[in-house]
Amino acid sequence: MEDAVFVGGGGPEYGVQQGLSLKYANRHGLIAGATGTGKTVTLQILAEGFSAAGVPVFMADVKGDLSGLAKAGSAAAKLHEPFTERAAKIGFTDYAYAAFPVTFWDMFGQQGHPVRTTVSEMGPLLLSQLLELSEAQEGILNIAFRLADEEGLPLLDLKDLQALLVWIGENAKDLSLRYGNVSSASVGAIQRRLLVLENQGGAKLFGEPALALSDLMRCDADGRGMVNILAADQLMASPKLYATFLLWLLSELFEELPEVGDPDKPKLVFFFDEAHLLFDDAPKALINKVEQVARLIRSKGVGVYFITQNPADVPEDILGQLGNRVQHALRAFTAKDRKELRMAAETYRENPAFDTETAIREVGVGEAVTSMLQKKGVPGIVERTLIRPPSSQLGPITAEERAGVMAASEMAGKYDSPLDRTSAFEILRDRAAKAAAEAARAEEQAEAAEEPAARDFNAGRRYSGTRVTRSTSRSTRSTTSFGDQMTKMVVKELTGTTGRRIVRGILGGLFKGR
Ligand SMILES: Nc1ncnc2c1ncn2[C@@H]1O[C@H](COP(=O)(O)OP(=O)(O)OP(=O)(O)O)[C@@H](O)[C@H]1O
Ligand SMILES: [Mg+2]
Repeated sequence: MEDAVFVGGGGPEYGVQQGLSLKYANRHGLIAGATGTGKTVTLQILAEGFSAAGVPVFMADVKGDLSGLAKAGSAAAKLHEPFTERAAKIGFTDYAYAAFPVTFWDMFGQQGHPVRTTVSEMGPLLLSQLLELSEAQEGILNIAFRLADEEGLPLLDLKDLQALLVWIGENAKDLSLRYGNVSSASVGAIQRRLLVLENQGGAKLFGEPALALSDLMRCDADGRGMVNILAADQLMASPKLYATFLLWLLSELFEELPEVGDPDKPKLVFFFDEAHLLFDDAPKALINKVEQVARLIRSKGVGVYFITQNPADVPEDILGQLGNRVQHALRAFTAKDRKELRMAAETYRENPAFDTETAIREVGVGEAVTSMLQKKGVPGIVERTLIRPPSSQLGPITAEERAGVMAASEMAGKYDSPLDRTSAFEILRDRAAKAAAEAARAEEQAEAAEEPAARDFNAGRRYSGTRVTRSTSRSTRSTTSFGDQMTKMVVKELTGTTGRRIVRGILGGLFKGR
């Protein structure tokens, strides 16, 4: 198959080769089907095909069964015979076992190279979603980001955000004057949500060195695309963290990659497994933005493939954009199942040879109803396709094999040690310390200048108060200096010379494309 990823055999006796055209692979896709029907193997063979065509891919390994991509299948494997029979049936004459170039990633830094981003890059919108904030709390988070942007306080890790929130809490009154109600109750609520996130391991996601997208878009020495596998088994315990991270990655790709129109083959293919997690109780506003990113990222040469049990899990606006489809079997136990099945069937261009709805119910394991975009991006008529067997190992590799792949990777060492640059936390801490020292010095000078009698009087009066004054002098002081800065900021804004305000993209991440 030229210019296409070979998917399997369709038509009578499964003898007609079916392929996913590389030219239209950036027009997104869907892999759906009930549990155990072959979605993961389909994902595996698509990754193999893209890699072989020189297209890097990114995928999350939700069940831990994709690492086998790094190792060739074997004639000694249990499934060797069914695989070769299947290959023969679909006319896959040059079927051979092969390993693919894999880079393992892991937010927790155990099963792969660590992946990190900064709080600032994630932005207020996604972070609010991640923290499940109320509208009022989201408002405060927006103010926090704005202040950080304006005041040059880098928000790198969660510690930075926490420090900034403490500062906002201390200055709630002044900030309310400028931004409207900044309630310390809401600030406290965000702080508590951050603790929850930290307990889920979220602290690991934020910090530096942050992931460079170019590291996901590499090819090996033979020109094969890198298969990037994100360990997600542990991550799945915090579905919000999982979904938000993938969404962030998508939005980063969108913001950072240059416009390429419709390339001969995609620059990257992004598989979004357990896609329903992205849409489960997501607010309409977020879904709209995902829809927008999906629509626009196409022209950056990125194809996004959603994998989910039921196509009904994907909002209609987004479903409508998924041009390449592999629909494995759906069950039809309940009235709702049947309705969803009918709706799924209706989205295909009918094949006179069979009834789509019946086919979706009847296809066997590793078989699917497929429709790929053809010339001019028109959906092809639906086919019953026997999916090709994988060339790489089915099922995971061992921990030792994984460690070997990681050690040999170009990425080894690049992200392993976290870096703690001076950021909001340190700046605010130093500012507070400086303010406290200044306050103490001012106080001493005032004391020295006082008349001896007055000093005695004040000392006596201050006996119980001095310490309190000193320990709170930090916030008193910073409030005053903040007040000064605020005036300056307001003046700057009025005269329209801010200019420094950081531009944020569709999903609120930093906009770096300019
Ligand atoms: N294309 C294929 N070629 C050969 N065997 C296949 C193919 N697809 C599926 N199978 C067989 O079916 C089994 C189940 O497939 P798979 O793990 O892909 O299902 P799934 O839909 O991902 O299930 P789950 O929802 O549980 O993750 C595989 O382990 C394999 O034995
Ligand atoms: Mg699976």
